[in-house]
Amino acid sequence: RFAYVDGRYPRHADAAVHIEDRGFQFADGVYEVCEVRAGMIVDLTRHLDRLERSLGALAIAMPMSRAALLAVFRELARRNGLRNGWIYLQITRGAAPRDHYFPQTPVNPTVVVTTRAVDPAKVEAAAAAGIGVITVPDDRWGRVDIKTVGLLSNVLAKQAARDAGAREAWFVDRDGFVTEGGSTNAWIVANGALVTRPTSPGILGGITRLVVMDFAAAHGLKVEERAFTVPEALAADEAFVTSATSVVTAVVRIDGRPIGDGKPGPIARDLRAGFHDVAE
Ligand code: PDD
Repeated sequence: RFAYVDGRYPRHADAAVHIEDRGFQFADGVYEVCEVRAGMIVDLTRHLDRLERSLGALAIAMPMSRAALLAVFRELARRNGLRNGWIYLQITRGAAPRDHYFPQTPVNPTVVVTTRAVDPAKVEAAAAAGIGVITVPDDRWGRVDIKTVGLLSNVLAKQAARDAGAREAWFVDRDGFVTEGGSTNAWIVANGALVTRPTSPGILGGITRLVVMDFAAAHGLKVEERAFTVPEALAADEAFVTSATSVVTAVVRIDGRPIGDGKPGPIARDLRAGFHDVAE
């Protein structure tokens, strides 16, 4: 297995970046995760659009053209024989002696790409039963719309979920409204409508979220972009999460209490089954 680091394809086990990389010291960098399915990179254009927005917000220049980045993705996927799984891309401001200010003498951004293979049958089997989520206060910084590698709150929240026998944590804002999951967007199905929080600096605008909206439009399902509370979610017909890695996965328990009959609902199932017909 290989990785990509700044123009080279070292063995994954030997791949390394500098100890003064600003990603390591300050989380001064951004990332993307793209699903690979049957050898195709899912929704590549939207991921690259978001990457450019994230880099722009941090005033990091795109280190290479989109075409060159795509060539790296394809080449690494080829070398790793990747058919199904994920591509992880991380771009940091680069390595420089530790100082909060941006380096005054320009440095090259650090570009790292890795892949992760999955067995689609195993992924489907794991998702079929749905997942449990816990709720935690949203203590993240105010610009989580930027896909930065600063994910400590997310890490702690997701570990708390695992410790509680759940898979995901839903962040809840001060007013009691769910913002999003530790690595997913959060949805409920209530009164026949798909409900999810509108984009703002307080959530990451998921690409999978957009695809679900496209699916809903194509199938005449109503979408309400509004915040919902935990009690509302507990009383909902269905709940689910979306992300490049979870696609659409039913939520069957929140803080140990069942949603609906405690099994994945029909809308979440249909969305998961039809997702890749809509995704590009
Ligand atoms: N996470 N919200 C957060 C906080 C996320 O980290 C993610 C993605 C999403 C969903 O975005 P998308 O649909 O574009 O994957 C929402 C990735 C998969 C991760 O960190 O592994």
